[in-house]
Amino acid sequence: MRTKMLAGNWKMNNGGAATKDFITNLENWFSKDPVGKKSAAAVSSKAIEVVVAPPFTSIESACSAKQTDIIQIAAQNVYHKPKGAFTGEVSLPMLEEAGCKYAIIGHSERRHVFGESNEDLEKKLIATLESRVLPIFCVGELLEERESGNMKKVLDTQLESAWRSLTSDVVADMVVIAYEPVWAIGTGQTASDDDAEDACDYIRTLAYEKFGVTSSDSLRILYGGSVKPENSASLLAQRDIDGLLIGGASLDADSFEKIIASAL
Ligand code: PGA
Repeated sequence: MRTKMLAGNWKMNNGGAATKDFITNLENWFSKDPVGKKSAAAVSSKAIEVVVAPPFTSIESACSAKQTDIIQIAAQNVYHKPKGAFTGEVSLPMLEEAGCKYAIIGHSERRHVFGESNEDLEKKLIATLESRVLPIFCVGELLEERESGNMKKVLDTQLESAWRSLTSDVVADMVVIAYEPVWAIGTGQTASDDDAEDACDYIRTLAYEKFGVTSSDSLRILYGGSVKPENSASLLAQRDIDGLLIGGASLDADSFEKIIASAL
């Protein structure tokens, strides 16, 4: 049984004060609301895992607002060097010290707005796997790549460079992949259940071919792109979708809670 991950990617939203309020309210929901209590029990039994990725400056607020271990904190990005003259970057030792369990690597906005290459992301992935922070590694095709029939080719290229120096054990125990078709992110145009499953199934097949059955069976693969309470349950019901990476809908406590509950 793969633990289903519900991860909220806040992007450049919520400063320290808003983050503290959000985390406090979400923990109250887990401890007081009947559905929240069921969700907290599902976290304890490892049926689900709840993750929030605030901006860097709000990570400390999120970690200090947390009274329990129900919510895990992720960074939205990381730099692969541990320290030094890299203005504007944040390192893995800093994320560890702040209390992050995960780091999102290669989100499509990092790839396409900030120009991060497959080589950059490979360095980040390797450095993260050498730290105590675990990677949520994002892949996904542009609209024109899908329309020209190249979705699988794009996934091949993005994953080939990411995976080339990893071992089967690492993939089985430490890696989370998020399939996020770029045309579905922030557009309201969710991939259909079949399209999302098709891509996640393909990623699992690639993992099987490269790392074998134990790794491909254990690997968690998330879908992301315009997830909302109305479509989360049917996406989560797909065989190869082990969770959701949620942007816009994770900023609203009510919709994030509904999406968490849809995984029960
Ligand atoms: P969205 O973003 O849910 O707002 O489409 C998803 C993401 O970018 O991770």
